[in-house]
Amino acid sequence: MPTLSPSASLHQLRQAVAGSAALPDLSGVHYAYSHAAYEAASDQRASLQAWLPRELPPLLGAGPLRVIGVGVGDGSVDAPLAAALATDDRRVEYTGIEPHAGSAAGFEARLGALDADCLTVTTVAGAFDDYETAVPADLVHFVHSMYYMADLGATLDHALAMLRPGGLLVSATAPREPLCVLTELLSPCVGHRLWCAEDVTEELADRRLEVRSETMLAGLDLGGMRTAPHGSDEPVLDFLVGARTTTMTAQVREQLMMYLAEVALPGNPEVVPHPIDITIARVP
Ligand SMILES: C[S@@+](CC[C@H](N)C(=O)[O-])C[C@H]1O[C@@H](n2cnc3c(N)ncnc32)[C@H](O)[C@@H]1O
Repeated sequence: MPTLSPSASLHQLRQAVAGSAALPDLSGVHYAYSHAAYEAASDQRASLQAWLPRELPPLLGAGPLRVIGVGVGDGSVDAPLAAALATDDRRVEYTGIEPHAGSAAGFEARLGALDADCLTVTTVAGAFDDYETAVPADLVHFVHSMYYMADLGATLDHALAMLRPGGLLVSATAPREPLCVLTELLSPCVGHRLWCAEDVTEELADRRLEVRSETMLAGLDLGGMRTAPHGSDEPVLDFLVGARTTTMTAQVREQLMMYLAEVALPGNPEVVPHPIDITIARVP
């Protein structure tokens, strides 16, 4: 296969996409199914599941805690965090907000199965924009959910208003690097600029908050994606581009694979960088 620079490959991909019909949306069920396949193809999930329970409890103190998770999906990231927080008899009220009913049920089941008497779990099957609470929270987190918020500034203000003085807002969001660029180019789901880590940091800086950021490196294994028969069910590819790809034209697919080859890790053409930025802001 001839090689181009990533920017030349991306230019050719943009041209191919511009000349073809938009891809179908990921439905709620297919979104959750393809998300699970995507996370299973990456080592990022395991790193996040270890990082959050290790790093956040010391920042939150020993008192009773109120946590609000936004876009919690099936709770696979929240469960280890909730378990780590609800130790040493610390009371934890953990609310998960998730609009997709099937994923919300998964969150409820996963957190409900934790053996922690001091943990109270509430599931809100709805969108964050509609959620109101009068009880101040110690932590509001968005793990891979900030991308989808219609208005980033309004969402951050809504979340910050829920925090007690000294409370933490945590955003685990991908930087605007190749994989996000692909989603932005091909996904019909979002309908607005895809908010990436840089946008979150910029908005928080505008609010003069004390912010700490850390980048976690990871890799997404493309496995047999480049040799999969055109038109077959490819959940990892679907989630990667944020759309159903069975109807993707052969030309777009070929350009997409060329772009992935260009951005793959040096010496490992099967793995593309899959970093995540974790940004922590403390309310004064
Ligand atoms: C990539 S998934 C991440 C799920 C989970 N945090 C995890 O890391 O496994 C993004 C989640 O955000 C949810 N979401 C999308 N729009 C939302 C909104 N307006 N309010 C709350 N959650 C939303 C989606 O339903 C989806 O479950």
